[in-house]
Amino acid sequence: MIKISPSILSADFARLGEEIKAVEQAGADAIHVDVMDGHFVPNLTLGPPVIASLAKVATRPLDVHVMAAPIDPYIADYVKAGASILTIHAEATHHADRALNLIHELGAKAGLAINPGTPVTVLEDLLHLTDLVLVMSVNPGFGGQSFIPRALEKIKAVRRMIDARGLKVELQVDGGIKPDNIFTAARAGADFFVAGSAVFSQPDYAKVIAQLKKNGEAGWAARV
Ligand code: DX5
Ligand code: ZN
Repeated sequence: MIKISPSILSADFARLGEEIKAVEQAGADAIHVDVMDGHFVPNLTLGPPVIASLAKVATRPLDVHVMAAPIDPYIADYVKAGASILTIHAEATHHADRALNLIHELGAKAGLAINPGTPVTVLEDLLHLTDLVLVMSVNPGFGGQSFIPRALEKIKAVRRMIDARGLKVELQVDGGIKPDNIFTAARAGADFFVAGSAVFSQPDYAKVIAQLKKNGEAGWAARV
């Protein structure tokens, strides 16, 4: 039920292929790839050519989180490179309806991310076009930041919207997720978790992924 997507932002970039194999063997459900453009967010990472290389070694879905603006002209590049899930930011496009439809037309799952300062109301007319909503629990740009508690209220609100409409949209949380706070985030209604530093800072990836899943499952079961 609970899915864990390790963010390779905190992996060893000189050994990305090996790191992906290691977290897959350790129980990762997807591989979270953070694309940053130095414009939408104050950091630079990687783009479609690197994703295409990662797609050759990954056996789990590539969960590509693009923190770049504009995004619309590059959507096809990311899907062609191998994104199974392409998550774009609501703040990075003037035409989110068209962008989400385009991702589907190209054959990928469409995710929509919202920053800590963006109200959930932006989902009102877009939720039905998504396979995944990503509630950011840090301001995007860097790994290793602290979870912003206010995100819990947003997770609850998005969960209510999804359930009220009877949709099968996954609710992902990204930023500051650790074994000791995943319970609360899952209890609020999230079912898909990104974890970067929590996984890659540990010597034993399997142990930390198992802890995340166990605590996440317990939180999901305790949902109100
Ligand atoms: C932040 C990225 C995250 C980041 C999470 O902008 O979108 O995916 O890697 O890292 P942690 O889990 O360390 O907060
Ligand atoms: Zn991310």
